[in-house]
Amino acid sequence: MCGIIGCTGGTDLVPTLLNGLAKLEYRGYDSAGLAVSNSRIHVLKREGELDELVGAVRDENDLGGTVGIGHTRWSTHGKPSDENAHPHTDCENRVAVVHNGIIENNHSLRDELHGLGHEFESETDTEVIPHLIGNYLDRGATPKEAFRLAVEKLEGSYAIAAVFESCDEVMATRKDSSLVLGVGDGVYIASDVTALVERTDTVVHLHDGEFAYLSEDGYTIVDESGNPQPKTGTAIEWDAEAMAKGHHDHYMIKEIYEQSSALRECLRDRFAGNFVSLDAAADHRAVDSVHLVACGTSYHAALYGAKLLCERGIPAQAHLASEYAMSPPPIRDGTLVVGVTQSGETADTLSALRVANERDAYTLALTNVIGSTATRECDDALYIRSGPEISVAATKTFASQLVTLVLFVLQLSADESSRDETRRLASALTELPEQIQAVLDTSNAEAIAHRFVDSSGNFFIGRGMQYPVALEGALKMKEITYQHAEGFAAGELKHGPLALVTEETPVFVSIVGDDEIARKTVSNAKEVKARDAPLVVVTDGQSSVEEFADEILSIPPTNPTLAPILVNVQYQLLAYHTARLLGRDIDKPRNLAKSVTVE
Ligand code: F6R
Repeated sequence: MCGIIGCTGGTDLVPTLLNGLAKLEYRGYDSAGLAVSNSRIHVLKREGELDELVGAVRDENDLGGTVGIGHTRWSTHGKPSDENAHPHTDCENRVAVVHNGIIENNHSLRDELHGLGHEFESETDTEVIPHLIGNYLDRGATPKEAFRLAVEKLEGSYAIAAVFESCDEVMATRKDSSLVLGVGDGVYIASDVTALVERTDTVVHLHDGEFAYLSEDGYTIVDESGNPQPKTGTAIEWDAEAMAKGHHDHYMIKEIYEQSSALRECLRDRFAGNFVSLDAAADHRAVDSVHLVACGTSYHAALYGAKLLCERGIPAQAHLASEYAMSPPPIRDGTLVVGVTQSGETADTLSALRVANERDAYTLALTNVIGSTATRECDDALYIRSGPEISVAATKTFASQLVTLVLFVLQLSADESSRDETRRLASALTELPEQIQAVLDTSNAEAIAHRFVDSSGNFFIGRGMQYPVALEGALKMKEITYQHAEGFAAGELKHGPLALVTEETPVFVSIVGDDEIARKTVSNAKEVKARDAPLVVVTDGQSSVEEFADEILSIPPTNPTLAPILVNVQYQLLAYHTARLLGRDIDKPRNLAKSVTVE
């Protein structure tokens, strides 16, 4: 959700903050702000995307400071506005604070502080923090003491950074919200490594309850009681080039095109003879059932993983993480709980994993981000190796999640009898990157987008392994085009949703192979056609679809387990081109943010 950054420095301070905020903007873009401090604090903040703040900075000629903090916001408490933008200050402008997370006891704290004469300027939960700090300053506490005492009173989740007047340190702390230090020529603090890769190649992870103090001379980290916490840095594996948009108009299309290379990286060194060999080591003999917990696109990957596990004889269920955390199903000795999460920071998924940990399940984080909270809280981690994904809409990471799940299922179900199937899938997997490239090079999705750009609704249907990508196709369409789109199991349409299908609503259906699933999907497609809906069929050419399809999107034939990955590339292109024709803000769709760190 919100992104925060803090650093020390001289002339470079404001450009460094703005640069970091640009990298964090995918976490929220309702408003942006910064505060710099030396003998006094100067705050500048603007509603809207970062460009608004950049413009305001340009008009300002007095923004010098020794320390600074910045924030890009995804609104939770209070609508997007200049007043609700961070940083927030106390009544006397002695401290400025940026925050990601939710302060759950903000109402009672606000009442208490009102009673003590504090005046609030925003509707945010965050504003109680600088006022609390100010309250302790009034009572004679030093800035460090005031910061720690204020944090002690907070309930909820938070990553916080603060600067004080006449103090050359940035102070920061966290609970259930990510915060990392970048250590290189200077010292930086940020919500995640993406903000830091241009400045440093080493990060130090701050843990819950720890406090970090950054100054020109370096940094110190202490625990809640003030004891120094020695830490070693971790190398950042992503470089700045991987995070540049290059010649592409949007990150989304760049990342769609990166799928071939992402999958090569995902597969690298993961086969040993006829078996899969992964860095994560869940002991398959001890696993008798699997729960996959996830949100959004990652939930669709989880659904795919659960189907695959069931096919291989391992009982498995995919759960929406937000529901799992509220009403978890029974967890037994042999239950493995897998959190599928690109960022490793999604609050709902972390909650579900915590519930599983409390019940002594063996937990595994299937993620893209080394050192993310999910990797630290789970028993083990399995990396999808996709590289940084900046566009809010997940694309390449979904493909990498599916392939990693295939590998994982092969490892989990490995025995002598499955050796041939493993060999077949391994061979199909090695061809997949080139097949994706072929789809990208030949797709006619743009022409189809032109034809249906004004449709009143879009339906995506699929059966079996194609069902999760029907859901994903619809999600991608709705989140970046703002057009109505729904995904259904193909057999389910006739049980209600068919009433919505008209000649105004294209139906997208994937029919691959020539088996019973394909034959039944053909029947469902014909049911739609009989209601005059335009029918777009994604096909590998193995079933005859020409007689009823209005439009065809082709994919090369592959192992049926892997076909959804190719189908999905067509759906991604379709959503992208539709959004483009509609003039949408593709990388930053309205109301959304990547890394959803609130429940
Ligand atoms: C949609 C999208 C989201 C995420 C979801 C989970 O394009 O990206 O639906 O998939 O917010 O995020 P992670 O995978 O980081 O847990």
